[in-house]
Formats: sequence, C-alpha cells, structure tokens
Amino acid sequence: MLIKVDPIMDEVNSFNSSDPNEIEAFRIKMLGKKGIITGLLAEFRNVPIEHKKEFGQKINLLKKAAQDKVVDLKARVGNSESSKRDLDLSMSGEPFELGSRHPLSIVRKDILDIFTRIGFSISEGPEIEDDFHNFTALNFPEEHPARDMQDTFFIDKDIALRTHTSSVQVRVMEGSKPPIRTISPGRVFRNEAISARAHCIFHQVEGLYIEKDVSFADLKQTLLYFAKEIFGEETEIRLRPSYFPFTEPSAEVDVSCQICSGKGCNVCKNTGYLEIMGCGMVDPNVLENCGIDSSVYSGFAFGMGIERIAMLKYQVNDLRHFFENDLRFLKQFKSAH
Ligand code: PHE
Repeated sequence: MLIKVDPIMDEVNSFNSSDPNEIEAFRIKMLGKKGIITGLLAEFRNVPIEHKKEFGQKINLLKKAAQDKVVDLKARVGNSESSKRDLDLSMSGEPFELGSRHPLSIVRKDILDIFTRIGFSISEGPEIEDDFHNFTALNFPEEHPARDMQDTFFIDKDIALRTHTSSVQVRVMEGSKPPIRTISPGRVFRNEAISARAHCIFHQVEGLYIEKDVSFADLKQTLLYFAKEIFGEETEIRLRPSYFPFTEPSAEVDVSCQICSGKGCNVCKNTGYLEIMGCGMVDPNVLENCGIDSSVYSGFAFGMGIERIAMLKYQVNDLRHFFENDLRFLKQFKSAH
C-alpha cells in the first residue's frame, strides 16, 4: 500500500498544465469518484492496524497536494484568461490631449503675419545690450530717467538688459542701407513692480520704415491697416501727441474700444478708446547716429507690447496670467497655427 503512494505523489507534484480541460481530467483522475486517491482512501479499512497511522498521514498529504495543485493551476489559467480579456485590441485608445500655443505666441505670430504681408522683414537681436544700442544711438539724453537704475536692469556700467527692441532697429540701420522695412519682436526687461498691468519681463514688437519721402500719413495708414487686421474691420484709430527721445513728432496710438465700439464702457473708462502703442517719425539725430543721411531719408517707427494687445484681444484683465502657466487659463486658447 505505502509503496503505491509515493509514485502517485511524484505524479501529482510533476503535473503541470495551462489547459483547463487537462487540469479537469487530472482532477477526475486523482480526486474523482473513481479517482486514484479516492480509491486509496477506500482501501484504508484493509490496511493492517499497525500501518494505519502512517498510511493515513501519507494519504492525507497526497490528497491535499492534489487538491492544492488543481486549485493553483485553475487560478493561474483564470488569471491569464482575465488578462487576455483586458487586452482588447479593438478597443479605442486612451484620449490623447493635444497642446495648444501660448496666447502670447498666437498674438506674436498674428502681428508678424500682418506686417510681413505688407513687406516688412523680421529682425532679432541680443537681449543683453550695450548703452549705445539701447540708449545713446536712440537720442536718449545722458540724464534721461529711463537710464536710471529704477527702470533698467544694469549688468555693468555700460551693459544692460534691453528695455525695448528699438535696440535691434539700431543694429539693422547700422548694418543695411535704406529702404528698410523691418519689425523686431522680442523679450524686454524693465525694473518695474509686478502688477496686473506691468511686469519686469514682457514682449514687444517694434517696427521701422526708412525710405525717401516717408511721411506721417504713411505711418498713420500703416497703423490703421494693422489695427483693422488684428482687431477687426470696424476698428478705428486715434493718435495723441506724445514724447519719445527717438521720434519727432511722436504719438500714442489708441484703438476704438472692442467692447462698446467706441460708445464708452468701464473697460475703456468711458473714453471709447484704448491705448495700444507708441509711434512717431524717426528723429534725424537717430538716423545720423546709425549712419543714414537724414537729408535724403526719413522714416517712421512704432512699438507695442504683445501682452497689451493680447489683453485687449482676449479681454484678459491681469497681465500676470500670461506668466503663470495655469492650464485652466492656457487651455482656453486654441489656434489654427
Ligand atoms: N520704444 C518704445 C517703447 O519701448 C516704443 C516706441 C517705438 C515708440 C517706436 C515710438 C516709436 O516704449
């Protein structure tokens, strides 16, 4: 009797299968009504009394081993079947979120597109500038407040972070002959307290046109074209006298309020207009400083903050949103390009 048990134990231990039918056949062969182990148990009563204890223990171990084996193999088959069920290749994929451009990038591109359509080239230059390109060439007097430590981030006595991209235009004028028609986009830096309306870093696009007989009427018409393109056909502009060291005469440009169409509301503080940029005729001193004969050539220049245009276009009331990268804000801007 005992001799019979060991080879069966070996058979149980070595049995392995991932086929549910084979496992069931094994169960029936061992543990079924007419199974081997069931048969051995039936023979128990014939075992001589002195062997009963030993046989009983062995047969119980064998039965348990066979039962555990069946449970274990069935569980493994079950798991791999359920993992097969999870892997449904015909199921649609995980939703994939597309990113979108930053609102400042969208507006920057819109502005550049509008001017390149009428023949302006794009010029870029260094963010760290020397005093000559940022100030002196642009006719800033020695004692001008913009040179003050309060407004400019100085790196050295003569080197600073540019406060406007007019510095790029000085470089273009130095390096090329008129006609010049260029726009300069880029980051600029001013030592200002950060608030809803101001930041120490912001983005500008400045424009420059130099040719024989360029007039203030050319400037006005170019800016009217720009305003209608960026804000819509109904938009009107208004120029107010102003002062910049590098232009004479100089003006601030206002556009009719988008919200109330010029009738007056709280966005435009009941004036019907919103300021968008500075402009003017290039001062002859600036042309001479950059090696251009001011008796032959004249020109106009203008400069705007991209944040300001974006705030008006999308009715954003706090400039800091553009720098915080809050997805709830950014997700609202979708663009085709
Ligand atoms: N450079 C001026 C600024 O940064 C803008 C400007 C450019 C004004 C050209 C007039 C002409 O504010």
